Amino acid sequence: MSSTLDPSAGRAELTARTFRKDRWWLTPAVQATALTVLLGYVVVRLFMRSWYFVPELNYLTPLYSPCISTLCTPGSSHFGTIFGELPFWIPLPIIVFPILLGFRGTCYYYRKAVYRSILQSPTACAVAEPAKRYRGESRFPLIGMNSHRYFFYGATLLLLINTYDAVLSFFPQRGGFGIGLGSLIIVVNVLLLWAYTLGCHSCRHLLGGRLRHFSKHPVRYRLWTRLSWFNARHQSFAWASLISVTLTDVYIMSVSAGWIGDLRLVN
Ligand code: FES
Repeated sequence: MSSTLDPSAGRAELTARTFRKDRWWLTPAVQATALTVLLGYVVVRLFMRSWYFVPELNYLTPLYSPCISTLCTPGSSHFGTIFGELPFWIPLPIIVFPILLGFRGTCYYYRKAVYRSILQSPTACAVAEPAKRYRGESRFPLIGMNSHRYFFYGATLLLLINTYDAVLSFFPQRGGFGIGLGSLIIVVNVLLLWAYTLGCHSCRHLLGGRLRHFSKHPVRYRLWTRLSWFNARHQSFAWASLISVTLTDVYIMSVSAGWIGDLRLVN
């Protein structure tokens, strides 16, 4: 009797791409659209070089923090300037751009989303993919995905700076303490960014990985358990934080350009 489980037989020769009858294409199509729109917006903003800071309210968009070129709007360089004038083809937030792109681009969740929705590799379970051979992430360029933990360190440093910016947003440059809708939006954005970053698989491994006995490391075990809550919701926080960064930037751009005024709750 011939066996259909013979591994040497290879893949079945099918002409149909899939036999699935459900709307398996919907989620990847929505993801591809959302990623293209949000990434396109971020790239345009990074090269725009305007409306990223509201001097009188101390609102700095996370996309330009830290701003460390002498071209930065006066008052927006909370950590001083390291670089002189940069040509137009280099984004003013010269550090933010590669770290954010590297961190999100090598994130385990975004890899899944991009492989499925953009690279079609595969688009969904039981749907044939265009690639004839599978090499995983063992060769150039995808082997670069293994650099994720290093981007995690850089992104955590950026997030500490964003947290500092959030505190400054309660202290307008005219002096005193104040709360505006903008400062609340900035705080919510920073909280979502922390929820996303703390749920990172590299962060979880850093705290709880390479241990033989959890019982001998109770503190690390407890931290690992707490982080696992965020890790289980990593996909949700990945989207929530990406959208919140965009909306925070839209709000600060609108106030900075004078299209809207900041709603002041405490002056
Ligand atoms: Fe997603 Fe690290 S796995 S940020």
